[in-house]
Amino acid sequence: MGFGGLKVHILVLMGLWTILVGGVLAWTLFRHAVEMFESARLEAQSAFEKDLVYRRWAAGHGGVYVPATDETPPNKHLSHMPERDITTPSGRRLTLVNPAYMTRQVHALGAVSYGLKGKITSLNPVNPNNAADDWETDALETLKTGLPEVTEVSSLEMMDGQEYLRFMGPLVTEEGCLQCHTEQGYRVGDIRGGISVSVPMAPLRAVARKHVFSMVAGHSLIWLLGMAGIAGAGRRIALHVRERDRAQEALEKQHQRLEELVQERTGQLRQTNIKLTSEIDDRKRLEQELLDISEREQRRIGRQLHDSLGQQLTGAAIMSKVLQRKLDGASAAHSAEAAQITRLINEAIDQTRSLSRGLQPVDVESGGLVPALEMLTASTRDLFGIDCTFTPDADIQIEDPAIGINLYRITQEAITNAIKHGQSKQIDISLGADDEAYRLAIASDGKDFSLSADDTTGMGLRIMAYRAQAMGGSVDISRGADGGTIVSCRCPVEQPSKKRESGANS
Ligand code: HEC
Repeated sequence: MGFGGLKVHILVLMGLWTILVGGVLAWTLFRHAVEMFESARLEAQSAFEKDLVYRRWAAGHGGVYVPATDETPPNKHLSHMPERDITTPSGRRLTLVNPAYMTRQVHALGAVSYGLKGKITSLNPVNPNNAADDWETDALETLKTGLPEVTEVSSLEMMDGQEYLRFMGPLVTEEGCLQCHTEQGYRVGDIRGGISVSVPMAPLRAVARKHVFSMVAGHSLIWLLGMAGIAGAGRRIALHVRERDRAQEALEKQHQRLEELVQERTGQLRQTNIKLTSEIDDRKRLEQELLDISEREQRRIGRQLHDSLGQQLTGAAIMSKVLQRKLDGASAAHSAEAAQITRLINEAIDQTRSLSRGLQPVDVESGGLVPALEMLTASTRDLFGIDCTFTPDADIQIEDPAIGINLYRITQEAITNAIKHGQSKQIDISLGADDEAYRLAIASDGKDFSLSADDTTGMGLRIMAYRAQAMGGSVDISRGADGGTIVSCRCPVEQPSKKRESGANS
């Protein structure tokens, strides 16, 4: 998470906290207002019920007699009553007080001592003073139509610039009422009127203000604590984030440096590799050149042996034959010696020929590898007196002179090793080919010559392997089933590069 993202999160959290605390406060205040209204209504209701009980008591007695005074003068609305005013035996004057009259007087007392206003009223008042005002008229109409479900009406109203809870409870006509109210045509169960009670809200509001103040203060404190907590936590997290970002940056830098280092090293390695490869190439070229030189030298020596030494020996043989004939008549002993010399010279000629053939073997222009190997087999038989066979696949044709030379030299080397180190009496050479590769195998009996730890053998085997490689092939030297050695060489028909071909051919 980035730094900006964190800021947004913290602001959102603060907003949520504010909404939560504000919501709780609003709900509490609303509940409080409802309760305030409810308690005012209960106060009005209980005042009404008390009035009702007193009135019932008074009505139950058909009104009560009280001393007639200035505060309680005889009720002119009762003037039709025969015993409105009576005199006690001791001479005190008493007057009849009807329930409404009593209620009015009680309400007047209450208003003075409690601020609670009460009024007995009716839509059709006997006493015009009891007439209902607008609100009371509405309330009485509501009760008249709503009974028995609606048993009271209450609401908050303004009167003389003061707020009041106004309450209206019904006064239902009972049996006791009828003795004074029959003329108006009421029957039991009718609404005669009601008692309206007004509870001043000011004192309740004063108490509520205090509550509201303490509630707002308390909630604000909780809100502030929460905000401080969020801000503090936010700052700590921001610090962590900044630290983490810094660490990450450092790590990235380190990583980059490492990457650069790796790239640098890789570059160096590539350079070294290129150098090494070119060195290896140089070396291979050099080795090839060495092989080519040695091949050329051998051919030169072979040609010299054949042309020069062979010619001279032939000349010597002819001369010695002539000498032998001359001596035939003169001395039998000398003639026999000359014949001996002639034979020795002929043997030398044969050996020179086979030597020269060995040195310049594959005369590609006049025959190729198969006749060369046939000749090699024959001379091996003659020279070493061992059993040597050659079995080429029918119509095998090796066009490439470089392959011919290499395969010939590998065969030559294998034969030399078999005779010199393997003490072989039997050597079998086979040459085959398919679409992909030539296969040459030289199987010899006797000992496994690859095991002999001779320096020249080692060199010979290495050169063998090198020749195979130069043709893109390989040499495998293994032990024969009945002892001895099998040298097998495989080289692809398609040569890897023309360069080597021409190199070997030079
Ligand atoms: C002793 C006679 C008497 C009895 C009993 C009596 N009243 Fe009345 N009442 C009066 C007189 C007289 C007035 C009108 C003068 C006044 O305001 O006192 C009046 C007024 C009222 C008023 C006020 C409205 C107006 O018409 O001025 C109501 C409401 C009322 N009576 C209801 C009742 C009910 C309900 C009962 C039965 C529970 C009852 N009274 C029993 C005599 C009586």
